[in-house]
Amino acid sequence: MILMKDIIKEGNPILNQKSVDVELPISTEDAETLNSMIEYIFNSIDPTVSEKYGLRPAVGIAAPQIGILKKMIVINAYDEDGKEHFYAIVNPKLMSYSDELTYLQGGEGCLSVERETQGLIHRHKRVTVKGHFLENGKLVNKTIKLKGYLAIVFQHEYDHLFGTLFVDRINPANPFEVPSNSTPVVFKDFDDSEEE
Ligand code: NI
Repeated sequence: MILMKDIIKEGNPILNQKSVDVELPISTEDAETLNSMIEYIFNSIDPTVSEKYGLRPAVGIAAPQIGILKKMIVINAYDEDGKEHFYAIVNPKLMSYSDELTYLQGGEGCLSVERETQGLIHRHKRVTVKGHFLENGKLVNKTIKLKGYLAIVFQHEYDHLFGTLFVDRINPANPFEVPSNSTPVVFKDFDDSEEE
């Protein structure tokens, strides 16, 4: 299983390199990598497992973060309405995007970045993504649309495949600048009392 010591941290040049396409049909080795990334994401949000192994909770992970420069990302995140979305994508490709931008008011975080950071990252509010999505143990070639928070998470993970970290996207001259075409993600105040 992937532990925090296995996560490549900021400063390691691997994180600045570009990933290559995964050859399809997927090899056993690449499938194992993808499965270990999925396992990390779910371990990280399991209170017992994450505490036992000291895992940082994550809504996404990209293969370069475990030192593998291949185009694979895993996302498990709750959208603005509190709905959970899971994507394990091989060879994701950003096909199109809105000019309209969106951002997280508290900024972004990353398993590979352990320091405190300040600043906003403006990303496309809507994206269309093509790729091979893991569904019921099979890779399915399809195109999906993501918006708002999920679009942000996707673009964050996608950036890792091109050697870009979120900190690279903060404007150092004006970290809290908000362009006129950017609006913040607003999470609906949903009732999570059942989980409390
Ligand atoms: Ni990250």
